[in-house]
Amino acid sequence: MQLKTKILKSNTKNIVFASELLKNNKIVGIPTETVYGLGGRADNDYAIKKIFNIKKRPFNNPLILHYKNSECALNDIFYDDRAIELAKIFWPGALTIVSKIKNKHISKLATANLNTVAVRVPANKSIKKLLMQLDFPIAAPSANRYGKISPTSAKDVFEELNHKIPLILDGGRSSVGLESTIVDLSEKKVVVLRHGHVSSSDIEKVLNHKLEKFNNTKLFKAPGLSINHYQPDKPVRINALKQKSNEGWLAFGKIPSEFVKPSLSLSRKKCLKEAAKNLYKMLRVLDSKKISGIAVQKVPNKGIGIAINDRLYKASKKINER
Ligand code: TXA
Ligand code: MG
Repeated sequence: MQLKTKILKSNTKNIVFASELLKNNKIVGIPTETVYGLGGRADNDYAIKKIFNIKKRPFNNPLILHYKNSECALNDIFYDDRAIELAKIFWPGALTIVSKIKNKHISKLATANLNTVAVRVPANKSIKKLLMQLDFPIAAPSANRYGKISPTSAKDVFEELNHKIPLILDGGRSSVGLESTIVDLSEKKVVVLRHGHVSSSDIEKVLNHKLEKFNNTKLFKAPGLSINHYQPDKPVRINALKQKSNEGWLAFGKIPSEFVKPSLSLSRKKCLKEAAKNLYKMLRVLDSKKISGIAVQKVPNKGIGIAINDRLYKASKKINER
């Protein structure tokens, strides 16, 4: 049976409605400052199984758990001073910490049966208010079909998952626009597993030491990271200098007058934060046009530009390389 998917503004009444759905093991599209999540109660196998099925996500790819505050998040893991320091500076916000799991009530499906868990405290007001209504964390992957571009608005979630969930809470555009940075603290060496808004150098400054470079053995720990994501349907060509015939153009900076439509700029003033916020939205717009592919201009590889380039690189992989 097909569900009717409602989009409701995230006011108090609708947040209470969403909390009732979650308590009853239903799955809800939820705004966060990074991207929209597909949320379910983290302590319930039935709800978690539904998330995996809706996304068509392999069960060996664990989910991130979202908490109302740092105390609750840290309580569910074995933490040390590094976690306390990072939580103090970056929570609430776009940082996910992986550590050994302590809470025995978390669904083993959510953690893909690992002895570690990924936790974060989101900053977005709507999900915060929602979490305040609940006495369990929300497990939420990005609310897209598996391998596709993450949604940064309620409308994007609707396009991805119409008929599959009862409710999408509309909290406006995600302010960051890229998924959280994932930092692994489960071992002695600190490793950034996924780049995001919080950069490796931000983390190095807080922890006061140099981070390990990402190492492929980590891929066994989080299989999801080894698979290519963020795929529009159209081929993506990165570090492009010029538009080829019938290609859409995604610029970083101003668009020269000889470039033809469809052409969009991630940021006319070359602001990397603005580019991050626009990336998924603009890839979605270009993907919907009658073009043969999307050419993307080079984006500087510093700060959040590292995360942008990571997503663009994965988006540019050809289908047979995925
Ligand atoms: O910003 C975000 O992180 C968004 C919003 C909704 O919070 N969520 C998100 O979830 O991007 P998802 O499922 O698309 O990505 C979660 C990543 C996956 O690559 C998964 O492998 C990794 O987190 N992960 C989860 N648990 C892990 C663990 N115990 N160890 C290592 N990686 C883990
Ligand atoms: Mg995702």
